[in-house]
Amino acid sequence: MRLALGINALAAALVAIPVLGFIFAPAMQKAKNKWISLGKVDSFTQGETRLAQYINPFLVPWDGETAHIPCWVRRIEGDEFQVFAINCAHLGCPVKWFAESELFMCPCHGGVYYADGKRASGPPPRGLFEYQYRVVNGDLE
Ligand code: FES
Repeated sequence: MRLALGINALAAALVAIPVLGFIFAPAMQKAKNKWISLGKVDSFTQGETRLAQYINPFLVPWDGETAHIPCWVRRIEGDEFQVFAINCAHLGCPVKWFAESELFMCPCHGGVYYADGKRASGPPPRGLFEYQYRVVNGDLE
């Protein structure tokens, strides 16, 4: 009986340890707030908006391709930029930039945003979420 209880306890521990690790690992990670380079300033054309990508700083090994996070970068003039999250402010679908109409459009429920990220129409309750940015040594971060 004791041997059976011991084996059961060992088996329960072998199952519980990885499960508890999976549940609590994100809470144990220290925040890694740091500036992330999006590339050289000159790679962004003045007056245009284009897609850029960065690697999620909270990366875990099994993230794979999902660690590559896209964002929209609008170079207004010189070192003046706007960097937008790609996700719609309504329910998070990825918005697409249409240079011809100078609008961001969301394919999910028809949300529309102006070039400066402000809400134009549709269900989004606000404009696009904007990242802080800075320019250091010719790099957009
Ligand atoms: Fe974009 Fe609903 S998720 S309009």
